Amino acid sequence: MNFRLKVWRQADAKSKGKLVNYDANDISPNASFLEMLDIVNEQLLLRGEEPVAFDSDCREGICGTCSLTINGEAHGPDHPGAVCELYMRKFRDGETITVEPFRARPFPLIKDLVVDRSALDRVVQAGGFISARAGSAPEANSIPIPKPDADLAMEAAACIGCGACAAACPNASAMLFAAAKVSHLALLPQGSPERTTRVLRMVRAMDAEGFGNCTNTYECEAVCPAEISASFIAKLNREYARANWRRSAGEA
Ligand code: SF4
Ligand code: FES
Repeated sequence: MNFRLKVWRQADAKSKGKLVNYDANDISPNASFLEMLDIVNEQLLLRGEEPVAFDSDCREGICGTCSLTINGEAHGPDHPGAVCELYMRKFRDGETITVEPFRARPFPLIKDLVVDRSALDRVVQAGGFISARAGSAPEANSIPIPKPDADLAMEAAACIGCGACAAACPNASAMLFAAAKVSHLALLPQGSPERTTRVLRMVRAMDAEGFGNCTNTYECEAVCPAEISASFIAKLNREYARANWRRSAGEA
């Protein structure tokens, strides 16, 4: 397959960026999008040109490192799935494909298609943890957890922290991300001791990083590779209201 690429090139955050045309020819339909970019980069290197910088790590949809906006969609057109799980057979032969970085104010650009998503790490550092001793694995039945709660917590825990939700949101809101992290721990007894402070701190950190609020456009849910449901945002709002009530009642 042959493609015409329009790739965002920008030397650093201070430089002006622009879309640059590249040809990607003789690409296997079974190549992943990232493998196609690898091939383009090899050809650039052979010509003595600077390769395109982009992020990836696991290349199997679990680490959340890959982060491309393809033809205007975070993670490209094949939802649900991370961009490392996108294959060239999903495009038309001869298609022009526009490749840009995730664009959201809290994700400053580093180079080309690489953005700094450490704002998400700082939101997690604010409260996305439990303080129970992390020793050897406890006996499996020592803390009984109702199956529906365990299943729901597992669904929330599937978030891979990619940031596509914020990149796709017109408000650059990270509510789906924070909702997944808060809900995962709020649903389990292990997360109970810090349940109140966690949500207050994580929402405060989210605001401090410059993420916007949710206005129910559901773009986040549409692009999420882990299929995190927007209903977790309602859970986050309930957790936040509960925490504020407990704090004002002097219970936390
Ligand atoms: S909620 Fe979905 S889109 Fe947002 S960071 Fe988690 S996996 Fe990525
Ligand atoms: S490279 Fe790990 S999720 Fe895409």
